[in-house]
Amino acid sequence: MTIATNVEDLRLLAKKRIPRAIFEYADRGSYDERTITANSADLAALNLRQRVMVDVSGRSTATTMVGESVAMPVAIAPTGLTGLFHGNGEILGARAAQAFGVPFTLSTMSICSIEDVAAAVEKPFWFQLYVMRDRGFSQSLVNRAIAAKCSALVLTLDLQIQGQRHRDIKNGLNVPPRLTLANALDIATKPAWAARVLFGRRRTFGNLTDAAKDASLTTLAEWTASQFDPTLSWKDIEWVRKIWPGKLILKGILDVGDARMAAATGADAIVVSNHGGRQLDGAISSIRALPRVVDAVGHQTEVLFDGGVRSGQDVLKALAKGAKGCLVGKAFLYGLAAMGEAGVTRMLEIIRKELDVSMALTGTTDIGSVGKDLLDL
Ligand code: GLV
Repeated sequence: MTIATNVEDLRLLAKKRIPRAIFEYADRGSYDERTITANSADLAALNLRQRVMVDVSGRSTATTMVGESVAMPVAIAPTGLTGLFHGNGEILGARAAQAFGVPFTLSTMSICSIEDVAAAVEKPFWFQLYVMRDRGFSQSLVNRAIAAKCSALVLTLDLQIQGQRHRDIKNGLNVPPRLTLANALDIATKPAWAARVLFGRRRTFGNLTDAAKDASLTTLAEWTASQFDPTLSWKDIEWVRKIWPGKLILKGILDVGDARMAAATGADAIVVSNHGGRQLDGAISSIRALPRVVDAVGHQTEVLFDGGVRSGQDVLKALAKGAKGCLVGKAFLYGLAAMGEAGVTRMLEIIRKELDVSMALTGTTDIGSVGKDLLDL
């Protein structure tokens, strides 16, 4: 294949290099996939406003997210099972993000552990927490994130129970991955992946206790149902506040009422998100939800955005709709699966270049001042 010039090239390369069950875990959405489709379609439908004859020679993509300096307003989203996309995937992702100058978020459901990643980078990363039924265990995860000097806790609000992803069930997605009669042919055509992951050192959830790892895990969906806490409510944020002294980011807001509740907790940021179209199918796209959330709480808390971001143009559109920055999950996993650390770096470079060129062609020099007038409505 020739050089990857956009995220779609990395996606196609990823599809060739890793087993179908793992690729589709990232690539597909829940139920009829209306929301995952809407995320991209609604972003694509927005038009940027072309402006000419503006001196754009001094432009820069650098800004801040949640008080941290970033080379561009993009963070790597927490993604489960990352280390199954490439051996040591979370370590490689964190290293690429550090070198590039953007935040990396480690998922509770990662393969490399908090300690594995902390040992591999100097710059603090963000840790994403799922609150489990066993609160003592959740607290121990938070304590480990504190010990690892994580600079923000990203609390996911929209996955008390899992939206069904048909493909994960049909593909029999398991952690750790297993060689079965059904996937033997598929895996036989991905020898590099098999050497690094199937026969690699880190193949199961690195953050979970041995007891949880050994739970009779049939499919990921069943496991999640048995561990995640469906009683979670706003009052639990107080509990998290007490045990986590650092910055708090609440992820998974679409509704204005929920945004007000989230902002009232004093959270440092919220993420407008429908979990990449992986949870409530039929929910509105993230980009449609964004402006109303910004109008309601943008003066109180920083508003971040995810859901369908595949390009620098998408980042610029989200900024124009009021986001301070974007999280990228699928694009990250495509880059990682395609080419390891170099693939993540490539993905970040692609997005930064697109962002930079689009700033220039919209007559934008200061990324901090991007607003509604960047869109041609
Ligand atoms: C986990 O967060 C998932 O979306 O699978």
